[in-house]
Amino acid sequence: MINNNRAFYEEVVEGLSATPKYLFSKYFYDKRGDELFQKIMRCPEYYLTRCEEEIFSLQSHCIAEMIKKHLHNFEVVGLGAGDGTKSMYLLKEFYQQGLSDTYYPVDISDHVIQSLEKKIPRNIPGLRVKGFHGEYIEMLKDIHEFSGKQKMILFLGSNIGNYYPDRALHFCRLLRQYMPPGSLLLIGFDLKKHPQIILNAYNDRQGFTRDFNLNLLVRINRELNGNFTVKSFDHYAMYDPVSGSCKSFLVSLKDQQVRIGSAFSVDFLKDEVIQMEVSQKYHAADIDRMGEDAGFKILGKFYDSRKWFTDCLWQRE
Ligand code: TRP
Repeated sequence: MINNNRAFYEEVVEGLSATPKYLFSKYFYDKRGDELFQKIMRCPEYYLTRCEEEIFSLQSHCIAEMIKKHLHNFEVVGLGAGDGTKSMYLLKEFYQQGLSDTYYPVDISDHVIQSLEKKIPRNIPGLRVKGFHGEYIEMLKDIHEFSGKQKMILFLGSNIGNYYPDRALHFCRLLRQYMPPGSLLLIGFDLKKHPQIILNAYNDRQGFTRDFNLNLLVRINRELNGNFTVKSFDHYAMYDPVSGSCKSFLVSLKDQQVRIGSAFSVDFLKDEVIQMEVSQKYHAADIDRMGEDAGFKILGKFYDSRKWFTDCLWQRE
């Protein structure tokens, strides 16, 4: 096994040895996973990306105006930068207004970082772009060592939603530690809405979300020498409107044993599930409370026209 894959292997073994079984969603994003996520973002049911794009395409100017009241010169960090489409609206505005000339995209996908380092300078000539490939907090530490300048951290999409609320609060506190005083955080939250709309976004009719989940088994087979029979698993999504948690599972369609590498094997009962990911939805009031509990000053909130999604501006004082 290549050394790189050590952590991947250990976390897969840990998750599949647990009760109930789980896999970490950060591993979804190999090359095929990136492609499938692009398809999810474009499918009619997945409203999140379009809502946030609407916010940035119409309100980047207002966002920059609000920022200017609190901070004038900063470097931008994009956590889970993805394909960069949404951040580009903001980066352009910040660059044109002379607020920032540096962008550090951070992503777990090597492929994503390589393509952003080419794509962004082509779209915003003059902007300095240096990518960091790895996990959020580790990369934030590296960036902090690399430059002590004040930061504008973008944590967009529903990235924060991948943590349950108490872990999300803990994560925001950690983020704060690596932000020089005066730095800002622009953080996206998906809001509670009709449960059916939410469930459909994680259960699209074309099956991209199903394939996206199953692709992690394909990745384990390829990179960790596993022998999952992918067609012996199905995808199941559920949303609980009370807790606001939307969960994705894979379901074992029969009793089966799966081997990963030469040293690990795991038994599945028929109908046993692997929990793949959580996507937490919030009420606007709960979000402010989380920001304050994490030690931030709440500066403002930006919504799409339907109020399905919000980006919040917080400051570390
Ligand atoms: N985590 C993102 C979200 O909550 C991306 C995502 C969409 C996702 N569908 C998924 C992750 C299905 C895992 C499984 O919207």
